[in-house]
Amino acid sequence: MKRDTRLVEGGRRKDWTHGIVNPPIFRASTCLFESYAALRAGIANPDADLFYGRRGTPTHWALREALRELEGGAGTWLYPSGMAAITASILAFARAGDRILVTDSAYEPTRHFCDTVLKAMDIETVYYDPLIGADIAGLLDARTRLVLTESPGSLSFEVQDLPAIAASAHAAGALVLLDNTWATPLHLDALALGADVSIHAATKYIVGHSDVMLGTATANDRAWPRLKRMATALGLTVSADDAWLALRGLRTLGVRLARHETNAIEIANWLKARPEVARVLHPALPDCPGHDIFRRDFTGSCGLFSIVMRGGDEDAIAAFIDGLEHFGIGFSWGGYESLILPADPARVRSATRWQAEGPLLRLHIGLEDPADLITDLEAGLARFRRAGGG
Ligand SMILES: Cc1ncc(COP(=O)(O)O)c(C=O)c1O
Repeated sequence: MKRDTRLVEGGRRKDWTHGIVNPPIFRASTCLFESYAALRAGIANPDADLFYGRRGTPTHWALREALRELEGGAGTWLYPSGMAAITASILAFARAGDRILVTDSAYEPTRHFCDTVLKAMDIETVYYDPLIGADIAGLLDARTRLVLTESPGSLSFEVQDLPAIAASAHAAGALVLLDNTWATPLHLDALALGADVSIHAATKYIVGHSDVMLGTATANDRAWPRLKRMATALGLTVSADDAWLALRGLRTLGVRLARHETNAIEIANWLKARPEVARVLHPALPDCPGHDIFRRDFTGSCGLFSIVMRGGDEDAIAAFIDGLEHFGIGFSWGGYESLILPADPARVRSATRWQAEGPLLRLHIGLEDPADLITDLEAGLARFRRAGGG
């Protein structure tokens, strides 16, 4: 089955939907058993049917099944945020005394978790150059339990050679986790390319409307039992309402993403020709580190990329972004609306050095008409120039 068909049909089992199109929102804590015998049967196999709210209801099962099928995994778990999906996935495999390798381009709160919580648990984190590829073999040793990848990287968008990293990691007995949020389940076949766990901040494109926090992790046969054991041991669950909204978002992911992609590429190319912009870090554009790997492994892009400005201080950046009419200033991305965010990768790099011609701005291109966005950016760049940038 092709992915667009899976997006529409996944998880719509008749015994969960009762014959209507969308699974209803089953909110539950207590589930009642018919008899003592049914209770005992439930305890023996709690996955078989409704058991207790924390284990999920048909609303959760429908979303989990749709994602599991899309990613070709053995199982999917749902988490209260993308961050929770990342931390619980690491905790599923790393133990005291272990070492983990984490890409230097990881999402900042992921680094924070490694540098604080994991450190206190005597789990060592070694950061590596996101473009390391097969040379990661030189960093792997008997204590290395897992390699965390994020492709493309947060803020700087380096595309990682997942198959090469996975081949080295697996040869050394380590698992590979991927923060696959940017590609969504549609644009990178993460498990087939070597990841053992594909993690998504569903908060972004899967939900798609900037109104729910949710994370997902889908694992292959090897990783699923431990991933699930840790998620249930930690008591991680999400509300049925949030699962339902994510499932609603998932159905239209393909068409939304296609529009985000074309809008973003149009704007990225326009920005590339502007004298105020030194570099456009968009994996689909040749300037982006790892662009060849993007062309080899990814089937498309999304609305998120960065630009490096040519000069300009904080005041010039403020002049640029404060007057924008169609771009909100805010965290997160993946909703239908455009956003802009100044960020400094230098603060969150330790294995590599961030060198730039000026400040970095991360843009999320929404579903507005790109002509309006370009007019807005053009006026912003004029303000940036007047304030001494460019
Ligand atoms: C690449 C990436 N991974 C994970 C997360 C965390 O997701 P959440 O905000 O749902 O915790 C984010 C959030 O911005 C992100 O950009």
